[in-house]
Amino acid sequence: MLMSAIIGHRGARGLAPENTLQSIELAAELGVRWVELDVMLTRDQVPILFHDAWLNKLSNGRGQIEKLDFNALGKIRVLSPRKVKGGTSQPLATLASALERIQQLGLGLNLEIKPTSPDKDLLTLQLAVRELKNFPGLPLLISSFSMDVLYEAQRLLPQIPRGCLWEKLPKNWLQKAKDLEAASVHLSTSWLRRSQIEEVRAQGREVYIYTVNSKRQSEKYFAWGATGIFTDYPERFQPFIQDRRRTPFGEPV
Ligand code: G3P
Ligand code: MG
Repeated sequence: MLMSAIIGHRGARGLAPENTLQSIELAAELGVRWVELDVMLTRDQVPILFHDAWLNKLSNGRGQIEKLDFNALGKIRVLSPRKVKGGTSQPLATLASALERIQQLGLGLNLEIKPTSPDKDLLTLQLAVRELKNFPGLPLLISSFSMDVLYEAQRLLPQIPRGCLWEKLPKNWLQKAKDLEAASVHLSTSWLRRSQIEEVRAQGREVYIYTVNSKRQSEKYFAWGATGIFTDYPERFQPFIQDRRRTPFGEPV
């Protein structure tokens, strides 16, 4: 298995400000073994963890990340999820600081390369790789919605597994996965059918599903053959989460 059956989405997104050090730490406290995080570049090309191209929704700031230098982002705080009473907002995390913490905590990382715009695709990957090279032993899987990013990852870090991210499995998925030598396919729950999971598994690729927030929903996907799920609420998957391979469906996949 490339990652783990239960993966913390943006750390523990439902419980702490997403893509922050606090979110990563909380995921680890809850027993998570692998986290998924999104990386993008500031205007002065610092790789930081953030999901949206704009600050407005997830933080106390305004404007586009790609138009702001890292220093200008110093006062920005990522907001606590609405449902968490008394949660504190948190500073933005650089990829470098997150990698250090992940290594200290003994976690694996699914790094999703999330360029702020298509013209930043390759640079985002290249600068993330520069940071990743400082952490050679870290369990790592790189994924992206951008095929160009994944081709560049194949060129620069051929030995690191790659995952194709799709909202819906495309008809020509197998050719793409073969060209990229992708080890996994990551699919949204939105258009998901059992036959899609079965098809990908039959072709020797692992399947990870986003975003699954109830044990019951996860049981269905594991029964369909999913390898793992991304969740915002790792605490809902106790005690399975401690064991990298065990799932709420029962038998190890
Ligand atoms: O990597 C899985 C998932 O995070 C992809 O969607 O929009 O949450 O980054 P998104
Ligand atoms: Mg993501």
